[in-house]
Amino acid sequence: MESSFLCIMFMRVLFLVSLFQLIVLTHSSPSIQSLCHVDESSALLQFKNSFSIKGSESSDRLACPKIASWTLDGQNSDCCSWDGVICDEDTGHVIELDLSSCNLYGSINSNSSLFHLVHLQRLNLAFNNFNYSQIPSQVGNLSRLTYLNLSSSMLSGEIPFTLMNLTKLTFLGLSSNNFQGPIPSSIVHLYNLEVLDVYNNNLNGTVELCMFLNMKSLGMLDLSHNELSLLIDETCTNATLPKFYGLDFAACNLIEFPNFLKNQDGLQWLSLAYNNITGHIPEWMWHISKESLRVMDLSFNFLTGFDGQVPIPLPWTNLAILDLSSNQLEGSLPIPPSSTLRYNIPNNKLSGRISQWICNMTSIQMLDLSNNSLSGSLPQCLNKFGDSLLVLNLQKNKLEGSIPQTWAKGTQLRMINFSENKFQNRLPTSLANLMMLEAIDLGVNQFNDSFPYWFGNLPNLMVLCIRSNKFNGPIVIPNAEYKFPNLRVLDLSNNSFSGKLPLEIFQNWKYRDFENESPLTYIHVKTNFTIPKGSWNYHLSYDYNYSMEITNKGMNMVYQRVQELFRGIDMSSNRFEGEIPESIGDLKVLHLFNVSNNFLSSNIPFSLENLAGLESLDLSLNRLLGEIPQQLTQLNFLQYFNVSYNNLTGHIPSGQQFNTFQNNSFEGNSGLCGSPLTNNCDTLLPPASISENSEDSDSPFEFDWKIVVIGYGFGTVVGVIIGHVVTARNPDWLRKTFGMKQLGRRHRN
Ligand SMILES: *[C@@H]1O[C@H](CO)[C@@H](O)[C@H](O)[C@H]1NC(C)=O
Ligand SMILES: *[C@@H]1O[C@H](CO)[C@@H](O)[C@H](O)[C@H]1NC(C)=O
Ligand SMILES: *[C@@H]1O[C@H](CO)[C@@H](O)[C@H](O)[C@H]1NC(C)=O
Ligand SMILES: *[C@@H]1O[C@H](CO)[C@@H](O)[C@H](O)[C@H]1NC(C)=O
Ligand SMILES: *[C@@H]1O[C@H](CO)[C@@H](O)[C@H](O)[C@H]1NC(C)=O
Ligand SMILES: *[C@@H]1O[C@H](CO)[C@@H](O)[C@H](O)[C@H]1NC(C)=O
Ligand SMILES: *[C@@H]1O[C@H](CO)[C@@H](O)[C@H](O)[C@H]1NC(C)=O
Ligand SMILES: *[C@@H]1O[C@H](CO)[C@@H](O)[C@H](O)[C@H]1NC(C)=O
Ligand SMILES: *[C@@H]1O[C@H](CO)[C@@H](O)[C@H](O)[C@H]1NC(C)=O
Ligand SMILES: *[C@@H]1O[C@H](CO)[C@@H](O)[C@H](O)[C@H]1NC(C)=O
Ligand SMILES: *[C@@H]1O[C@H](CO)[C@@H](O)[C@H](O)[C@H]1NC(C)=O
Ligand SMILES: *[C@@H]1O[C@H](CO)[C@@H](O)[C@H](O)[C@H]1NC(C)=O
Repeated sequence: MESSFLCIMFMRVLFLVSLFQLIVLTHSSPSIQSLCHVDESSALLQFKNSFSIKGSESSDRLACPKIASWTLDGQNSDCCSWDGVICDEDTGHVIELDLSSCNLYGSINSNSSLFHLVHLQRLNLAFNNFNYSQIPSQVGNLSRLTYLNLSSSMLSGEIPFTLMNLTKLTFLGLSSNNFQGPIPSSIVHLYNLEVLDVYNNNLNGTVELCMFLNMKSLGMLDLSHNELSLLIDETCTNATLPKFYGLDFAACNLIEFPNFLKNQDGLQWLSLAYNNITGHIPEWMWHISKESLRVMDLSFNFLTGFDGQVPIPLPWTNLAILDLSSNQLEGSLPIPPSSTLRYNIPNNKLSGRISQWICNMTSIQMLDLSNNSLSGSLPQCLNKFGDSLLVLNLQKNKLEGSIPQTWAKGTQLRMINFSENKFQNRLPTSLANLMMLEAIDLGVNQFNDSFPYWFGNLPNLMVLCIRSNKFNGPIVIPNAEYKFPNLRVLDLSNNSFSGKLPLEIFQNWKYRDFENESPLTYIHVKTNFTIPKGSWNYHLSYDYNYSMEITNKGMNMVYQRVQELFRGIDMSSNRFEGEIPESIGDLKVLHLFNVSNNFLSSNIPFSLENLAGLESLDLSLNRLLGEIPQQLTQLNFLQYFNVSYNNLTGHIPSGQQFNTFQNNSFEGNSGLCGSPLTNNCDTLLPPASISENSEDSDSPFEFDWKIVVIGYGFGTVVGVIIGHVVTARNPDWLRKTFGMKQLGRRHRN
């Protein structure tokens, strides 16, 4: 019983990954003197005027400074000098139009003057809001187009067949819109196309890989995150397909490894993520595109293992990113080459020891081996990873022994998660050298130590979790230098700490101004890198978000992201005694406070009423005396309140949030009366004494663990949203497009 209780009284930090892939786009600025054609300048102005610019009047110019310069008056009347417009030097025709990220709002109609600009070779309307209009079939009029970028511009409907008339296209970017239907087979007429990107739409139906057979220029094919099913017919796949440099078939309903990959020796980027590929990773996969491959993503499949011997290290000599997360991989941990920046293999069933070889990954920035069955002790060289390591996540394995003892100054580590293993012994104080550290989770291990006050030195530390270990003794901060200047989440729960509640850890909250913190900022680590390929750049930018499992509002929840402004203290299930000091009222920014299951014996301080943002307050299973202060009804955001199993007396306050709490918030206090309890205040009996346990037992009370689980008050006001509750497959955190290194200057006809 008790251990079940211990399991739910926690807050833990996980790490989760978000992947954002963004673009670098370098413009060459036009310097043209030619005079534009009158019909084209009026077509441009008409096009401009067919939109409003989203946002307030005053921000218009900020939203799209380009378009503001467009006018027929005075010196600026030459449309070839307008921002975003490029004309042919000789003919004066408009050949390039770039109104990307202009906040244009409105529909593109079939009679839009855009289609009069028939000399256009490059058109970029990405990142606008075309109000879910369709691409009019008149786009077929722009037959000279080589580059068409309509990414993220709120277009919908089917891709018009006439688009396939644009046989000069080399780039077609339709990603992140709302396009429907299947991809027209006539796309094969775009035999000059180099990049086809329909990522993140609602396209459905089947796509036959063989239809791309004759598109010999096709280098990058991104069909990911639609409702498409990719069919791969062996008859065309052997030697005849284009040589791709990038393939993204994420969420394309694949059920096996496409054999044609064997013949692809120039791949730089391959994603087969979010498919239903089962069985073993075939041996040949380790050997495709050995020199060229930079990114390999097989995450979110049903892979169970590896065929043959897994080479150590893996033979892709220039690999930067390897993602094998969320499969069912068994066997020992594959070791990527030393070039690897990011290695993700959480949520599998890998076992055995972590080989010394892993320390050869001297460029590694993010290493996530969490949620496997890795065992044995850690290679002590782990702390010798280069200065590049930012994230180290070993959560939820079976690792044991001491954690590495020497941590050097000057490392960049921002997140460490060693939780849910079997690590023992004391914590190395050299962890205090990790000056960049923002979050560390050591919870659910067997560390046996006094409170690691020396973390108080770290200027950026936001989250410290040491729950469910054997930490013990009173919490003493020996020196005023240990200020914990940035701490916002502290979880000490389920240890054997004694003495007074250590609220002085948070004294800086009194002085800091948190008002300016944005609710949109999440605790995360961002990295990026670029793969250049010919005239293209893939600029990849990764967000690694903290995720936190927390007992909030009486329920145990996993949040994918944690807002930086969230403040929580969990000191439950220890042996703290004495009072809840009045100084609790200084922690005005607190959202969650849990000191349940200790030996606290004071009154409930009135000053709690100052914690205006408090959402969850758990004081249950102590020896608190006196009445529940009426002032607590002022806490408008309080959704969960639990004072059960104390020695409280008197009337239960009523009104506001208190009307939403049920009797399990109050039970086990024989001196309490009034709604929602059944004992009427008029007929109150003298309080019966609570059966006492000896102070030697691990827990102050014997109790039924269910008490703690059921308690749940439905608040009417919602305050801080810590993050989003986990959903397993969420392509929300995957965003990308491809970027050109540079847009060409001017083109002669
Ligand atoms: C956007 O579309 C909606 C629905 O079709 C329409 O009511 C609205 O007028 C459109 N707005 C603009 C600016 O075109
Ligand atoms: C363009 O078409 C829309 C409807 O599709 C119509 O409301 C508008 O008047 C037309 N504009 C011109 C200039 O014909
Ligand atoms: C498209 O081109 C055809 C002929 O080339 C022309 O008649 C038509 O007006 C054009 N459409 C638009 C919308 O400009
Ligand atoms: C453009 O495409 C349409 C539909 O696919 C077709 O009917 C038309 O003949 C094509 N026009 C040209 C000039 O190729
Ligand atoms: C594709 O989706 C459309 C609705 O958006 C539906 O009418 C059509 O049947 C779907 N096609 C397939 C092959 O599922
Ligand atoms: C394609 O290659 C595979 C093995 O790589 C072979 O089994 C298959 O017969 C070949 N198909 C054709 C059509 O050549
Ligand atoms: C893939 O797996 C999911 C979940 O197991 C299932 O719902 C879906 O139907 C599968 N799709 C295919 C193409 O097998
Ligand atoms: C751990 O990984 C397994 C797959 O091996 C998965 O089913 C489970 O949901 C994962 N647990 C967490 C907490 O992510
Ligand atoms: C990688 O590590 C292993 C074991 O620690 C070592 O024997 C080997 O020499 C290292 N290789 C390189 C290239 O550093
Ligand atoms: C990429 O990362 C570097 C260093 O980490 C940083 O200076 C740069 O601004 C980042 N670039 C982008 C586009 O995020
Ligand atoms: C509860 O409080 C009453 C007085 O209010 C006291 O007599 C009793 O001993 C207390 N019980 C415990 C367990 O502290
Ligand atoms: C499409 O346009 C957007 C906005 O300018 C840009 O970020 C993106 O790189 C472009 N895509 C390509 C492939 O050029």
